[in-house]
Amino acid sequence: MCGIIGITTGAAAVRADPGAASGDTFVDDASEHDGILGVLLEGLARLEYRGYDSAGLALVGMPDAGGLWRARAANGTRSLDDLVKRAADAPEGATAGIGHTRWATHGRPAEVNAHPHVDCSGRIGLIHNGIIENHVELADELIADGHHFESETDTEVLAHLVESALDTGRALGLADAVRSALGRVRGAFSLAVVHADEPDLIVAARRVSPLLMGVTGSAAFLASDVPAILGLTRDFFVLEDDQIAELRPGRLTVTAADGRQIEPARLHVDWDLEAARKDGYDEYMSKEMHEQPRAVADTLLDRVLPDGTLALDEVHITNEELRAVNKVFIVACGSSYHAGMMAKYAIEHWARLPVEIDIASEFRYRDPVLDPSTLVIGVSQSGETVDTFQAVREARRLGAKVLVISNVVDSSMAREADAVLYTRAGPEIGVASTKTHLAQIAALDILALYLAQARQTLSPADARALLRGMGEVPGKVAVALERSTDVEAVAGRYRDSPSFIFLGRQVGYPVALEGALKLKELSYLRAEGFPAGELKHGPIALVEPGTVVIGVATRTPIWEKMMGNVAEVKSRGATVVLVAGDGDEETARHADSVLWVPPTEHLFAPMVDVVPLQLFAYHLARLHGYDVDRPRNLAKVVTVE
Ligand code: AGP
Repeated sequence: MCGIIGITTGAAAVRADPGAASGDTFVDDASEHDGILGVLLEGLARLEYRGYDSAGLALVGMPDAGGLWRARAANGTRSLDDLVKRAADAPEGATAGIGHTRWATHGRPAEVNAHPHVDCSGRIGLIHNGIIENHVELADELIADGHHFESETDTEVLAHLVESALDTGRALGLADAVRSALGRVRGAFSLAVVHADEPDLIVAARRVSPLLMGVTGSAAFLASDVPAILGLTRDFFVLEDDQIAELRPGRLTVTAADGRQIEPARLHVDWDLEAARKDGYDEYMSKEMHEQPRAVADTLLDRVLPDGTLALDEVHITNEELRAVNKVFIVACGSSYHAGMMAKYAIEHWARLPVEIDIASEFRYRDPVLDPSTLVIGVSQSGETVDTFQAVREARRLGAKVLVISNVVDSSMAREADAVLYTRAGPEIGVASTKTHLAQIAALDILALYLAQARQTLSPADARALLRGMGEVPGKVAVALERSTDVEAVAGRYRDSPSFIFLGRQVGYPVALEGALKLKELSYLRAEGFPAGELKHGPIALVEPGTVVIGVATRTPIWEKMMGNVAEVKSRGATVVLVAGDGDEETARHADSVLWVPPTEHLFAPMVDVVPLQLFAYHLARLHGYDVDRPRNLAKVVTVE
């Protein structure tokens, strides 16, 4: 998601870490701008790989400028170039500064929404990574108290909360004010704050989102990611949840939520810059698979209200209009299409609406029958895939209501739609979709529940129970990921198989298709997914002794039928690998190998059941020596028809 960097040196100069590896050296690279500004700009450049749409920085302590100096730019991937140009006007002599790359979640990518955000006086500057869940109610309260907001972000409430704590005397200093502000907020965050009146100080805090700090000589610095400050040090301090850090030149103090001073945890990093960008994982794909619990949790965050009902503030279609919807079309490509297939089951079951699902490249050429009571849902990680974009545009032309699920805020598709529901998976670099796929399923499930709520097809008690179940999904995904080594062993057993058949029924069917797609794109092996019940209508002719068949056999309402189909391939000599719920020995008896997953309510289960199939494809590709981040012939964003 967003990237954070900050440094305080007081009046002293910045020095590079003498132990830095060549290529990681920091300050020497910051040729155009020296000192604090140089570190901030170089650090932000090192955060670019994460993807961003705007950037900004704030400086304090300049003797001739007074106050706080801020520069921001929102020009997509050229934002940093623009920021460097604006930094030419920065006053000399800053003693501390903070910088930020933004990947929009709340509020479109625009300069007014770029960080740092400031309070009413413009003397407090704040950068933030994460989501403030209760920002609307806090902003209402602050506005009633006379605060003036300039952005559409959730972040800005933090700057005003800090200001309010100081102005009302509830806090004695900046750290105290940050503590007071954080006592009011729900959500996930890491943040850094500067104040023109305390120009050597940076206050930082975190809950869920990571934050690292370092101290060398007369400098103290912080960042959301190791690469941003690698080269200034290799020895980091790690801020834990609800701790507050005060960084002063050459000094770091960390206190717990109750104000007690504590010794922060340490981390020594031997990685080079490239390894640091992957967070110590061997590839981006591996890193991104391990970010899946977070991606799902963030996508759910602040959309489930404390009373168990749903609020989707990006959906600008009224409940009345939703009640008037009589048919849903879902259009998407690749993994996004599979997420859409899973949603068909959820929407039909919970919201009792008929759903058609279309491959986007086919949709507009088949003369679809749409009218204003049709809801067309476009699903796309990038929001730029031309096939889906054209399908969405065609749907609008034909008068349908269009809702887009996108991972990129303000993408072309988001701009084309009547309403948008953003997944919050953060930028995905690996070509194979993993965390964005899970986040799409989560978003579509929330949408299905939202439709059910608007159409009153689910009782509030049932909806609450389902939401509770959905809240457990990130933890179950994490457990499935912990079993990577077991999956690697299973993949090793079948490394010489030239082809694979994937089977599933009901929601297990799109999971099987996604497993086959992952295997095809990463391992370049023939892998076909089928609805298991369709086998005997043709595909079973492919099965011969030794054919490897991978079945999704977790407990759906038609598990018994699925097992009947497994028996059909087994009796023809297939080698059977089954995805099964923990402890389900009855399923395991039919398998040569089992990929265990925590049992999950069957309409949420695709998010958990697909994980071992991602891991299987990943490990098999590695065993074959392939580059999992950049599979051959594939592009991350497909902008040609
Ligand atoms: C899957 O691993 C691929 N990256 C691909 O199928 C992808 O899902 C498809 O190209 C759609 O992309 P989108 O979600 O950005 O529209």
